Amino acid sequence: MQMETDRLVLRRITGDDRPALAAILQDSVTMSAYEGPFADAEVDAWLARMLTRYQRDGFGMWAVTLRDTCAMIGQCGITLQDQAGTKVHEVGYLFNREYWHQGYATEAAAASRDFAFAELGVHTVFAHVRDTNLASMNVAIRIGMTVRSRFAKHYRGVEMPHLAFGVDRPAT
Ligand SMILES: CC(C)(COP(=O)(O)OP(=O)(O)OC[C@H]1O[C@@H](n2cnc3c(N)ncnc32)[C@H](O)[C@@H]1OP(=O)(O)O)[C@@H](O)C(=O)NCCC(=O)NCCS
Repeated sequence: MQMETDRLVLRRITGDDRPALAAILQDSVTMSAYEGPFADAEVDAWLARMLTRYQRDGFGMWAVTLRDTCAMIGQCGITLQDQAGTKVHEVGYLFNREYWHQGYATEAAAASRDFAFAELGVHTVFAHVRDTNLASMNVAIRIGMTVRSRFAKHYRGVEMPHLAFGVDRPAT
C-alpha cells in the first residue's frame, strides 16, 4: 500500500523507521496530548502494534514521507478505535515538530480520509481529539470534520476528555 499527495508519500512503517518514529514519540512537546514522551519500550510496542494492525486490518498509521527527500516527517493513517463502546475508523496524525505549520498533517489526513471512504467503504471517518489539543482540532476542521460527540479516553492511567470529530462520505 502506498498513497501519494502533492508533496507526500504515505507508506507502511517498517523497523527501519524506528529512529524517525522515536524522534516523534519521545519528544515531550509533541507528546503533551499523550501525557508525555514514550519510553523506549513504549516506542517498540507502538511499532509492533502498527505491524499487527497491517496484518490484521490491512491498514494502520502510515509513515508520512516527503516526496522530494523520502525523509519520514510524521505518521498518519486510519486505525480502528473504540468510541464510547463502538468501533470506528479514526484518522490519526502525529508529526515531527520540525515539520509543523506547513500543512503536511492536513494533506496527509485528507488523503487518509479519502482512503477510508474509497478503499474501505467507510461511511464516517472520525478523529478523536483531546479537549486541550487545538492544533489537532484545526486539522480535523480543515479536513471537513465537525464535532459529533464527547467521550472520555483512558490512556496511560489518565482519564482524558475527548471530542469525536467526524466527516461523512460525500454522496456520489
Ligand atoms: C496535530 C499536528 C499534526 C498538527 O500540526 P500542524 O502543523 O498544526 O498542522 P498542519 O501540518 O496541517 O499545518 C497547518 C498550518 O500550516 C500552514 N500552512 C503553511 N503552508 C501550508 C500549505 N501549503 N497547505 C496548508 N497549510 C499550510 C497553515 O496555515 C497552518 O498554520 P497554523 O499552524 O498557523 O495554523 C501537530 O501539532 C502534532 O503532531 N501534534 C502532536 C501529536 C498530536 O497531538 N496529534 C493529534 C492527536 S489527536
